[in-house]
Amino acid sequence: MKFYTVQVEEREELGSYTLLRYRWTDGPVEPGQFVMARAAGYPATLDPFLARPFSVYDYDAKVASLLLEVRGRGTALLDLATTIEVTAPLGKGFRIDPRLGRAALLGGGIGVAPLKILGRRLDAMGVPHDVFLGFADEEPAAVAREFPGAEVATMDGSAGTHGTVLDATDSLQDYGAVYACGPNPMLAAVKLAAGENSLCQLSVEERMGCGNGSCNGCVVPVRGGGYIRSCIEGPVFHAEVLAW
Ligand SMILES: Cc1cc2nc3c(=O)[nH]c(=O)nc-3n(C[C@H](O)[C@H](O)[C@H](O)COP(=O)(O)OP(=O)(O)OC[C@H]3O[C@@H](n4cnc5c(N)ncnc54)[C@H](O)[C@@H]3O)c2cc1C
Ligand code: FES
Repeated sequence: MKFYTVQVEEREELGSYTLLRYRWTDGPVEPGQFVMARAAGYPATLDPFLARPFSVYDYDAKVASLLLEVRGRGTALLDLATTIEVTAPLGKGFRIDPRLGRAALLGGGIGVAPLKILGRRLDAMGVPHDVFLGFADEEPAAVAREFPGAEVATMDGSAGTHGTVLDATDSLQDYGAVYACGPNPMLAAVKLAAGENSLCQLSVEERMGCGNGSCNGCVVPVRGGGYIRSCIEGPVFHAEVLAW
């Protein structure tokens, strides 16, 4: 897999997340696609051994950005790096059909990351949409300022509605399309709430090894039996494809 060495041109703290911007002119980005990224230094350091997957947060044809939540070694190094190595955008993103009418976008925690570029694309296509964001507490919820008009929920009630992201919505069944990203329990709840009337697409956050389809580390169970790779066939899936 080809990695591009890019400078971090801008770094911004958004609550407990960090936004990294870098110049990207090597091809288009579809909403929901991800990149494999690591702090520059490989292979001299082999630290960490594997690059990590991140949704493309935004892209304006010149500058791409990633929204990072520091969890372990890989994200801690990326959070500080001035030079990073990224792949071109990978995987299958959200499929948009403007004929479906109003869309609901739901993000849980760092799962808000792909919703910025998705909202930008929906705006460009003239698709009206509402954004609902759920967080543990008010610190990560500070990223909501990047999503003007979004409804916010926090589990401890310190910002917005007290409860899960679904507590901030009315009925998802009134939307023509539902797009969501977050932890699997949240995605399963969104799938249930969306019902069968709306086209529901879910972006899963399975751990990844290679990002190129060769390790099977990122598989998700599919309805009817078997597994499918989230780095190649996903990370965005139609809800009915998934077994949970
Ligand atoms: C398609 C996709 C898109 C993603 N987009 C983003 C994004 O935009 N921004 C972002 O910050 N993160 C995103 N992630 C998650 C990110 O890849 C992980 O947080 C990262 O790999 C952790 O690496 P680390 O070395 O810091 O932590 P590690 O040392 O590898 O792990 C630290 C802790 O985090 C847990 N962890 C690691 N990966 C995951 C995961 N995928 N899901 C749940 N828990 C995990 C581990 O179990 C461990 O407890 C995405 C993941 C996928 C698959
Ligand atoms: S991460 Fe290796 S097959 Fe998907």
